[in-house]
Amino acid sequence: MEKAVFVALDYDNKNDVQKLLAKLGKPENTYLKIGMELFYHAGSDLVKELVQQGYPIFLDLKLHDIPNTVYQAAKQLAQLGIFCTTIHALGGSEMIAAAQKGLADGTPEGKEIPKLLAVTELTSISDSILANEQNCSLPMAEQVVSLAQTAKKAGADGVICSPLEVEKLKKEVGDDFLYVTPGIRLASDTNGDQKRVATPQKAKEFGSSAIVVGRSITQADNPELTYQKIKKEFN
Ligand code: C5P
Repeated sequence: MEKAVFVALDYDNKNDVQKLLAKLGKPENTYLKIGMELFYHAGSDLVKELVQQGYPIFLDLKLHDIPNTVYQAAKQLAQLGIFCTTIHALGGSEMIAAAQKGLADGTPEGKEIPKLLAVTELTSISDSILANEQNCSLPMAEQVVSLAQTAKKAGADGVICSPLEVEKLKKEVGDDFLYVTPGIRLASDTNGDQKRVATPQKAKEFGSSAIVVGRSITQADNPELTYQKIKKEFN
């Protein structure tokens, strides 16, 4: 199976989503990521609609709450028929295991359980925030490895990380885990607000399991051509 390239639908309205989707290819070959902005605007109805049309959906809601609440939330998300979703590894092993169980318990008979991906430290957290606000004694790289190991032991299927972290994580956490990486730019793009970026080709070399691409596709003159080009480069 080809490795997924998720298009990040970072929009605040359905109209823009429909306009973009009309320019992209067949639903079953087009992986989409829905984050908080669009989900809080259009809700689970939009997710169900897109799932019904055949799009594999990465629902990026980054759950972080007490284990019982996360269990119940994950159970609801599993009923939407999504492909994968996210939690914060900082919620702890009990919460991660509860999310995994919620997804398993909520998945309708005969359907595949959505993959559970853990966010380690957000890429917006600097070394100084980690040390002085989170009072973490580990350097960032070790903290990310530690959280990924916790997530794996607790039953997550993978982590979201920078493509530049994949090689180290694979060594420390193992090959039998998914490494899904945003922060992708084409060689011809500007970086925008992303600081640690890699091209699809580099992400492939580092060993990313799947990539997430937003603006390079959504703001391209020809989104379909750009999506196909990125898929080809990554696979
Ligand atoms: O437009 P761009 O390609 O930068 O979009 C990247 C997508 O991946 C956005 O939806 C962003 O929220 C998400 N993301 C990220 N970095 C993380 C986690 C998620 O850029 N660490």
